[in-house]
Amino acid sequence: MTRACRKWVLAHPLETDGIIRAENLAMVEEALPEPGEGQALVRTRLINLHSRTRLKMTQMSAGETDLANYGLAEVVASRDPLLPVGAHLHWQLGWQDYQIVSRDEKPIGYALPTEAVRALNQTQAPMNYVLRPEIAPGWPPDTVMHVFGTSGTTALLGLRRCGPVTPQVRVLVAAASGSVGSLAAQIAKAKGAYVVGLAGGADRCAWVRETLGIDDCIDYRAPDLDQRLRSAFPDGIDLFCDGVGGSLTATVAPLIARGGRLFAFGSSESFYSGGTAAARPANGLRGAFGITPEIEALCGDRSIRIEAWIVFDHYDERLSLEDELAGMLRAGTLRPVTDVTRGFENLPQAAIRMYSRPHAGKVQVDFDG
Ligand SMILES: NC(=O)c1ccc[n+]([C@@H]2O[C@H](COP(=O)([O-])OP(=O)(O)OC[C@H]3O[C@@H](n4cnc5c(N)ncnc54)[C@H](OP(=O)(O)O)[C@@H]3O)[C@@H](O)[C@H]2O)c1
Repeated sequence: MTRACRKWVLAHPLETDGIIRAENLAMVEEALPEPGEGQALVRTRLINLHSRTRLKMTQMSAGETDLANYGLAEVVASRDPLLPVGAHLHWQLGWQDYQIVSRDEKPIGYALPTEAVRALNQTQAPMNYVLRPEIAPGWPPDTVMHVFGTSGTTALLGLRRCGPVTPQVRVLVAAASGSVGSLAAQIAKAKGAYVVGLAGGADRCAWVRETLGIDDCIDYRAPDLDQRLRSAFPDGIDLFCDGVGGSLTATVAPLIARGGRLFAFGSSESFYSGGTAAARPANGLRGAFGITPEIEALCGDRSIRIEAWIVFDHYDERLSLEDELAGMLRAGTLRPVTDVTRGFENLPQAAIRMYSRPHAGKVQVDFDG
């Protein structure tokens, strides 16, 4: 009997309201492909869903799957000795349970890796690599893709580059209920810092305080947000971890202490604000992360260092980041926060639910159920 590959494809474009509905996606079946020379056939175990999904769906054509998800896959047949059967891969994967992969694949949606990252990963895409056995299958799939994937490595690298994070350092973490924020807040707390998070609503703030064990959490929707921040940080914020951008960055930047650090790494405000069109700011990546010319000038005047990059650019540090994260997991000072939808057939529900908050941590689909 010929085995089949199941695939979720775009059936109908999104309406102009940008809401994902079940009828936008359809499941199709295809014959299982055979790997050619230099290729491997992988079975996907779990994927991370990104808040950019809605935007990506507007850029897909009917019949296409989204091939840009970071996921965990296991090699089941191979004609590349560097991708042996049984190896676990961190790869850009589609909404499909089997897929042909090759180390020559270029990144989807990102720039080519640096020479150092290419040498480490032995691939042409910075996020495609073979995981070490102590990472996968050493840890469960959701932990691998949350802590050792882009969220954990971004959180730890950001704190390293904005460090040292010591008990004297006062840290504000935006989107503390989110995937990167929940880890950044825990790591900063584990290093002894005073840590305050931001989340949407009183219940969310209570959840953040209890789950992450940080000093406080403030509702970013509160009309007196500025005053609440000044009370929590009477001498200013030493380090602001900001994956939100937009108006939140503009509100917080003036409260960063002289000589402080702004770790700007994301744009959740635009991904969650509804609609499907992301305005392209004039100043590229920094602009997308909320760093307007005014904020550049303010930080320049007050000797505030800005760190703004994509974590893959620094993946030559990946192994050392993984080792430190594994140590914190073993010590119990870091716990993954994941929102896992079980079963490949439930993938559309996960994509729909992602935008009907609240969810906490990394939104994932475990294909095995
Ligand atoms: N630079 C890099 O290498 C890198 C790596 C990973 C991720 N990123 C980026 O970092 C950002 C965060 O990623 P993530 O995976 O952590 O996000 P996520 O899990 O989707 O978290 C989203 C969080 O953002 C909060 N939020 C949504 N809209 C908000 C608003 N208008 N103001 C304040 N908070 C808001 C939500 O809080 P409530 O639910 O409590 O309201 C939610 O917890 C994304 O833009 C992502 O692309 C960058």
